[in-house]
Amino acid sequence: MKSIIAPSILSANFARLEQDVLAAIRGGADALHCDIMDGTFVPNISFGPMVVRTLNEITDVMLDVHLMIVNPDKYVPKFIEAGADLIYPHVEAPYDIYRTVQLIADLGVRAGVTLNPGTPLETVRPLLDYVDTVLIMSVCPGFGGQKFIPSSLKRIAELRRLLDEEKPDVVIAVDGGVSNANIADLYRAGARHFIAGSAVFGAEDIEGAVRELKSVVQGME
Ligand code: DX5
Ligand code: ZN
Repeated sequence: MKSIIAPSILSANFARLEQDVLAAIRGGADALHCDIMDGTFVPNISFGPMVVRTLNEITDVMLDVHLMIVNPDKYVPKFIEAGADLIYPHVEAPYDIYRTVQLIADLGVRAGVTLNPGTPLETVRPLLDYVDTVLIMSVCPGFGGQKFIPSSLKRIAELRRLLDEEKPDVVIAVDGGVSNANIADLYRAGARHFIAGSAVFGAEDIEGAVRELKSVVQGME
């Protein structure tokens, strides 16, 4: 499959969200990543389905919804209604992740699953009937602009081996501190879906920043 560059709008300027997002799309963004935080699962609050709906109205790209919330089952239908194409709950939250990924898949959108940096990779094994993407956090979730955790590269390579054994079509996504400095290494480790917040929306030239990330991965495909 072709790699995906998914800018995270958490680092966009919300006063000019449309301009920022359209610049990212002109640069070649394949998806927009939406970080949903409830202030309980992670120590930060972000935004909800309304913003996802707005993105759905102003763009045609895939909407990638990362749920950092304690009660995903309650909100999954609302995000689907708002236009989510791929929804990633976390395996660590206090609920039955199996039920959540089943619910997402039953409602007809793509299900993914997210693993925090300290979570054993084995936890994805029983979920592979339902998910087509596993998201590896390469920072502790909650905030944009954090430093990439170097051991994430090894985790991605290990997860790739596990998935190749179990279900080779499952894609690895990576989120946190992704930039031009590490995207080639992440590709080599096995990631194909790259989420980048501050490296895109923190740049003066948003369009150029996406284009650069994209050209690195395209050069490796
Ligand atoms: C962190 C979020 C990330 C974040 C990425 O909890 O899941 O998606 O926005 O931002 P950067 O790329 O700046 O680390
Ligand atoms: Zn995210």
